[in-house]
Amino acid sequence: MSSRIIDIYRNPIGRDLLRKILLQLGWSEKLIDNRIIGSLRLGWIQRLSFGRVDRGLLESIISLLNTGDSIPEDKISNTRAWWKEAVFYQVYPRSFMDSNGDGTGDLRGLISRLDYLSALGIDAVWLSPVYDSPNDDNGYDIRDYRKIMAEFGTMEDFDELLSELHKRGMRLLMDLVVNHTSDEHEWFKEAVREPLGKFGDYYFFRDKPNNWTSYFGGSAWRYIEERKEYALHLFSQKQMDLNWENKDVREDIKDMVRWWLEKGVDGFRLDVINYISKPKGLPDGSEVIGKLMGFTGVETYFYGPRLNEYLRELKRDAFEPYGAFTVGETPGVGIEMMKLLTAEGRKELDMAFSFDHLETPGHSRFDEYRYDLNYYKSFMTQHMESYSPYCQMSLFYENHDNPRMISKVDKDEKVRWILGKLLAVMQLTLKGTPFIFQGQEIGMVNGRFKSMEELRDVDSFGKFSELKETIGEEKAFNRILAGSRDNARIPMQWSKKENGGFTDGTPWIGTGDIEVCNAEDQMGDKASLWSFYRDLIALRKKHPALIYGEIEITNKDRKDIFTYFRRDEKETLYIECNLGRENIRRKGVMPTGRMLISNYEDTDEHLRPYEASVWITKED
Ligand code: NOJ
Ligand code: CA
Repeated sequence: MSSRIIDIYRNPIGRDLLRKILLQLGWSEKLIDNRIIGSLRLGWIQRLSFGRVDRGLLESIISLLNTGDSIPEDKISNTRAWWKEAVFYQVYPRSFMDSNGDGTGDLRGLISRLDYLSALGIDAVWLSPVYDSPNDDNGYDIRDYRKIMAEFGTMEDFDELLSELHKRGMRLLMDLVVNHTSDEHEWFKEAVREPLGKFGDYYFFRDKPNNWTSYFGGSAWRYIEERKEYALHLFSQKQMDLNWENKDVREDIKDMVRWWLEKGVDGFRLDVINYISKPKGLPDGSEVIGKLMGFTGVETYFYGPRLNEYLRELKRDAFEPYGAFTVGETPGVGIEMMKLLTAEGRKELDMAFSFDHLETPGHSRFDEYRYDLNYYKSFMTQHMESYSPYCQMSLFYENHDNPRMISKVDKDEKVRWILGKLLAVMQLTLKGTPFIFQGQEIGMVNGRFKSMEELRDVDSFGKFSELKETIGEEKAFNRILAGSRDNARIPMQWSKKENGGFTDGTPWIGTGDIEVCNAEDQMGDKASLWSFYRDLIALRKKHPALIYGEIEITNKDRKDIFTYFRRDEKETLYIECNLGRENIRRKGVMPTGRMLISNYEDTDEHLRPYEASVWITKED
């Protein structure tokens, strides 16, 4: 409590935590350099925040600080790796392509569309879970890690998928969900049946719940009648958290990982992997943070005491012997913690997804508001300068858990395609590895749901029933509509045909605006968003400066302008973007050199609304 703020800031974890608090309070990071503020003791923060920071919060900061790691100082030497060069594409199999008319996407459907991915220039597919599951959370609740979900097909289909991908030179990332299993998994059933047996301690059981809450609403504890105890579930009531403290749990997980690697899969996306280490005794979370974030307990386990150790063990014993690639889903983790998780020499993860760029400060997914791309610029500027010299950054706007980016930035149909192209330019020319979510390449927007009956997501239902108690049904529905994960889960829009060509049957969830947005039309149109993505992907491959080259951001303080150079020994590229809806007068001169691609047909003395172009200013 008597540590000075500046000392805390020098610690990697401390730096991230202070940044978060400042962001939340709407204060600038520059404050910390201020001599007076910097010399304040930690205990003072509580007083200065007028009660917005409580003792519990400070105590959890202190215990995080004491993990003892220092900021990795070695810059990465731009070592080559396939996953730095690759463009990834996330497939949400339930909504990608249905092959048998039952309304649910499946593996054979996906196989039938692999040529589509090749044509776009995709190098690797991240496949959301396809394991046997009762589908309480669409496959993120796994019943059997070594079996394919019957709705999606068979293990033979899977083997064929893998070999068809490899034949086309594409790689496969599986989704590894090991923070929790389904309550229908054998391990959980055994744990309930025989509390003193081998599996009795595979999960967290307690006589009394602590105050942690579930991400999908309500307490994170469910009473298990047979054991007369509560079991922990950070997500749905059927997703039981595994106890990683138990060595047997870790050994079983590693066995399973090796089993998939033996089959030849190329790597994994690790679901909420930063949550796997829970602090001993499962202490209560801070109520203040609980209110701030909307869930209680997170600060105790989002960067748990043994996280780094577990990741190193997994890498050493399972991933590394197979040369497998890993990208961790790590919600809530800031830049410095990300460095600790992904710096090359530390041998934990190869890359990570952080989510702080998906909503602007002070907003949550469930707010109906316009996302200001200037925040994206400032987030990226900070990451390009402080993170990407050390680690490979992941670049994405969308996934199956978030509304579509075009819908967040600007709902005006007139700017949909221009805006889609602007987003594409930034994603494929900033420094990092792009992950495109299915449908993003054709500019799909949020689903058009009219009532709760049209939704399918366990998260939306949980939040709705909580919200309607406080703000009433109508307002609750509007919030769900803004943030529902189903917005991005509607079927892929292949063509104008019924159900967008996704299924011959009745789709499991309603389809989107197929008349104006579908892959078939866009593939036949050179000026379409799809063709733009294809061209940009090809451009990225042709110019290694876009992959390994350094990045220099200019015009940092000018609103709505995002400009940067990408450079290697051979060439220099210049990227110029207008992040807003107004014309911007170029202050300096026009870019020199040759324009390689643009979302407008010509150039002008103004940068027009959402204009984005890539220039080559120095060639070999
Ligand atoms: C993150 C996944 O992306 C999400 O869909 C899921 O509900 C949770 N983790 C729990 O597995
Ligand atoms: Ca099907």
